[in-house]
Amino acid sequence: MAAKSPKSSVESRHRELKELLSKYDHAYFVLDQPLIGDFEYDQLFQELRGLEDVHPGLDRRGSPTQRVGAPPLEQFVKAPHRLPMLSLTNSYSPEDLVEFDARVRKVLNTENPVEYLCELKFDGLALELIYENGELTRALTRGDGTLGEDVTQNVKTIRAIPLTLLDARPPSLAEIRGEALMFKKDFVKLNETQDELGHSVFANPRNAAAGTLRQLDPSIVAGRTLRFFAYSSGVIEDRDFKTQDELESQFAAWGLPVAGEIGGMHLRRKVAGADAIVEFYHDIEKIRHDLPFEIDGIVVKVDSLRLQNDLGIVARSPRWATAAKYKPQQAETLVENIVVQVGRTGALTPVAIMAPVKVGGVTVTNATLHNIEELERKDVRVGDTVLIHRAGDVIPEIISVKTEKRPATAQPFRMPDHCPACEQPVTKQPEEVVLRCVNPLCPAVMKESLKHFVGRRAMNVDKVGDRLIEALFDAGLVRRYSDLYQLKKDQILSLERQGDKSADNILASIERSKKTSLARLIFAMGIRMVGEQTAKLLADHFGTPEKFLEASDEELLTIPEIGPKVAENIRLSLSNEKFQAEFKRLLKSGLELEAPRRKTEGPLSGLSFLVTGTLPVKRDHAHEFIEGHGGKLLGSVSSKLSYLVVGDDPGSKVDKARNLGVKMISWDELQALAR
Ligand code: IVH
Repeated sequence: MAAKSPKSSVESRHRELKELLSKYDHAYFVLDQPLIGDFEYDQLFQELRGLEDVHPGLDRRGSPTQRVGAPPLEQFVKAPHRLPMLSLTNSYSPEDLVEFDARVRKVLNTENPVEYLCELKFDGLALELIYENGELTRALTRGDGTLGEDVTQNVKTIRAIPLTLLDARPPSLAEIRGEALMFKKDFVKLNETQDELGHSVFANPRNAAAGTLRQLDPSIVAGRTLRFFAYSSGVIEDRDFKTQDELESQFAAWGLPVAGEIGGMHLRRKVAGADAIVEFYHDIEKIRHDLPFEIDGIVVKVDSLRLQNDLGIVARSPRWATAAKYKPQQAETLVENIVVQVGRTGALTPVAIMAPVKVGGVTVTNATLHNIEELERKDVRVGDTVLIHRAGDVIPEIISVKTEKRPATAQPFRMPDHCPACEQPVTKQPEEVVLRCVNPLCPAVMKESLKHFVGRRAMNVDKVGDRLIEALFDAGLVRRYSDLYQLKKDQILSLERQGDKSADNILASIERSKKTSLARLIFAMGIRMVGEQTAKLLADHFGTPEKFLEASDEELLTIPEIGPKVAENIRLSLSNEKFQAEFKRLLKSGLELEAPRRKTEGPLSGLSFLVTGTLPVKRDHAHEFIEGHGGKLLGSVSSKLSYLVVGDDPGSKVDKARNLGVKMISWDELQALAR
């Protein structure tokens, strides 16, 4: 026997993979310093999952595979907090901070400056994470402060939260409290997707974070990126901290996110005395819009835990801490018009055109009203005075109408029953809240599709912007994607305001865009419900444009992450002759697609599989196991199928396989085959 038994080498590789992947999550989500790319991460993750599938005895605690895959809940279960979760007294001005300091010194009976830890007031929702012997065992929402809701499955999908504390000798119990929130950029992206799918959008990142954590299906939570910042504790055993700062530094050392710095400025600052608190308040106010997440103020805590204890609690709020909020960035303005825009998916969106006004340092004129439901709920009318802000610090949004200022003549706005761009009647799907123009030749739909095609995340034709697309389209020079690649210099010069130099730049940028990837090309084609992520999946799965264009229904459905609705939309596009022809024209325009990611090679290479019945592992895992070992998945039983993998209670596939003489194997036999 070799010195290492096979068992222990599996165990040590398993431990190594768990640690590596946790380290990469921490580097990316906590330190904001990614160490590897998505592809390498995915490969390691698959290897880990493969090991766990084959060796059910491995210790999966703390394994990143445990973040996903929990089944949906019926409802959340309530659970008590060991220590109540308190709230903070709020104030709205720097003067209140001076008063807070005076109160603290009075109770402590001291003239000396008190030391404070100043930090951000994160605008999300409070969570309590419970680690037992270093293992994340439970996560509760604040609830009413005494009784929270158990959201453990959802919280485990948050990759900023470690499943295991980085500590060789972790405390037997550590209750760590903090705020779950969504970054502004993730909020904007989520709303774009919601809009595209015809679902209602979230008003701000806090609502988006709260709505996400309240999802009963953890797989939905995993698909949206939530974050977390730690700032206080419940019970912590086996440790003795002297200051708030020390406590929070321990959180960071355990691998939890705490507020860091921005542009060299610390977002947690230890200070002494009232003036320094007020200075922090103003310093943060200046940079608050540059933060990747929303805050609504600052929090000031007496730093010494002994003094915190002396100060105590009054009416559910600690006397040792306070919050000072910033005035919300809002403005009043007049709605001059309401227009209806037609998007690339044909969706009709009402947009309020307002008298220009500054909000949070930016001049705003347009605010989307999203859809009929929103419009009716807010009842915005032309001539109304409205209160606006920027949702997630970015998107201009009407908060409410000042009805007392409404002119007597103002009429409720009605959505048109014909497309404002092509005059064709509009339709509404029963499960959607949006009206759509379904005319594929609608000029608005075509222009918006072209704008999407050249976009940064699609073909990235950086010198061709919205204005140029409009001009090219109106001049009849570009009517479909492939026309872009036939453009001649004199055609560009024939447009208004286009000189020699800019024409050259435009052509060079179109030329550059030819070097791209299959994923970008698929995304650029604008298939309904196919976002960047799905496009990547498709590109990875099919590898070449030819294979993608020939994809069968069955094969689409074997891609685990692609649901039936998305598959249906892909199928609709693929079965459309015009789509096929345009895709082929593009390929003939000299596109250079990056070589596809090499498919995993392994013991199952060259063999095809289909799974039926209930296996001892989840279906997704079985699929990943097969692909991770080089096998290919097929969607139906045919004579091309190498093996039908049969579990308990199989259906009619077994009969079909028998008739066709397809070999059938069990899960155990499959694993033997993969060795
Ligand atoms: S400390 C003893 N620190 O504000 C108080 N809270 O009204 C415990 N919050 O429910 C909280 N940022 O959701 C603390 N840096 C911070 C905070 C913070 C946001 C929220 C938290 C809490 C509410 C208090």
